[in-house]
Amino acid sequence: MKTRIKTKTILAALAITVSLTAMMNGCAVPESIAAKSGAQLWGENCNRCHNAPDPHTFSDDQWDAAVEHMHQKAILTDTETKKVVEFLKSAN
Ligand code: HEC
Repeated sequence: MKTRIKTKTILAALAITVSLTAMMNGCAVPESIAAKSGAQLWGENCNRCHNAPDPHTFSDDQWDAAVEHMHQKAILTDTETKKVVEFLKSAN
């Protein structure tokens, strides 16, 4: 009987810890990503394998396709990719 109560107490404590952690982390975008602008991400990532392409190189539609292609190569998150595309489209 005593052990049973103990197990329940431990489980309850675990449940509280888990939900507190979930509340704190939530679905928030990590600050490191949220803080970076598209221009910054472009400057830091798009020159790792080749010269960072000039925004004027392509039209809006072409940037959609090109960066989607680089999304996989550069291993960017969806959020980062979106920011880079928005930056390139705003500057072309
Ligand atoms: C991991 C290496 C790598 C990174 C990082 C990278 N690229 Fe590339 N990129 C390549 C390679 C390799 C090619 C040529 C071969 C190919 O197209 O697959 C290329 C080609 C391109 C081309 C030519 C057209 C095309 O779609 O093939 C464009 C435009 C381009 N990259 C833009 C970007 C942009 C914008 C970024 C930043 C988001 C980026 N690249 C980051 C490796 C990379």
